[in-house]
Amino acid sequence: MKEKSIFLQSCQKNRTPRPAVWLMRQAGRHLPEYNALRAQHDFLEMLTKEELIVEVSLQPWRRYQMDAVIVFSDILLLPMAMGMKLMFLEGQGPKFKKLIETEKDLESLKSLKPKKDIPFLLGALKKIKKTVGDGAALIGFAGAPWTVASYMGTFPYVIRKSDNRGERPLLHRLTQETIVYLQAQIDAGVDAIQIFDSWGGSLKTEEYWEWSGRYIKEVITALKPAGVPITLYIKDSWHLLTEMMATGCDVISVGWETPLEEAKKLAQGKVAIQGNFNPHILMQASPVEVAAATQKMLATMKDYPGYIANLGHGVLPKTPVENVKTFVETVKD
Ligand code: CP3
Repeated sequence: MKEKSIFLQSCQKNRTPRPAVWLMRQAGRHLPEYNALRAQHDFLEMLTKEELIVEVSLQPWRRYQMDAVIVFSDILLLPMAMGMKLMFLEGQGPKFKKLIETEKDLESLKSLKPKKDIPFLLGALKKIKKTVGDGAALIGFAGAPWTVASYMGTFPYVIRKSDNRGERPLLHRLTQETIVYLQAQIDAGVDAIQIFDSWGGSLKTEEYWEWSGRYIKEVITALKPAGVPITLYIKDSWHLLTEMMATGCDVISVGWETPLEEAKKLAQGKVAIQGNFNPHILMQASPVEVAAATQKMLATMKDYPGYIANLGHGVLPKTPVENVKTFVETVKD
């Protein structure tokens, strides 16, 4: 079986000779080669130059040969392409210069025209796919409307209230744009999609559907005909597993607070499961301890059809490369 098939087959809930493995935020600051490039280019340049996107996406794959390559980008690229001005303050992370506060601000945002607005991303996807071939699956991604909105607006009444169709204007608008954004990535050749609802865990079980789940379901339903597997990631998601499954996603990616035994019991083979090694342990432990903890996680998921080894959140910047290597190799062996 080809390596690529291991990731895609796992997404399709098939048993595989070994679990598939990749890591969220595998492309980034734990890699010396990323930091070397980053010293020469600011973050926004890294996100918008085709050659840099290709190079940074491939860096972790060259070093560790994981089963999936996630494109180096950011969930905030979509609002940026819609006309919001993103600033990246060193040491503070990304921030928009002016937030969406009124209906007028929202209307001033352009509708995404992928070929015109994000040619660098689409071009990079084609080049990455050409390089990795069937050696790994290429993952495209977007933020969930709820999570992206959390960065875009201050959520005053005008944005939060429902309009006469019962829609929340900002979330509704982002849903439509996210469909266009992800469809463009599919057309450029991605093998799979991941939706990051990193702030979804801030919602209570009974709030989740109304504020986030139903918009994600709309995105997934629109993309279904493309036949590309879709993973939904939520950090702090233990109380939301049933809601995650109701979105129609193929894979649920869970935070490290969720016991995999519980996820397994709930999912019952209806969706594949991704996760959920603790990124803090990956950063702090010795390679021997990482190997032991990884084996323990694998043992828990041994007979689950459709399991993808990953972290419960992104790789932390100070994580030793030796530990990441040990994690990947332990799964592959
Ligand atoms: O390897 C990969 O997973 C692909 C790259 C990727 C990045 N951001 C690159 C990045 C992905 C999938 C994202 C998604 C993303 N971006 C999310 C969802 C996932 C999550 O982590 O919860 C969110 C919330 C963002 C927004 C964002 N971007 C924040 C809050 C920050 C600052 C905090 C941080 O981790 O630095 C970023 C910056 C960012 N995005 C970096 C990278 C490599 C660091 C930039 C740098 O200083 O070089």
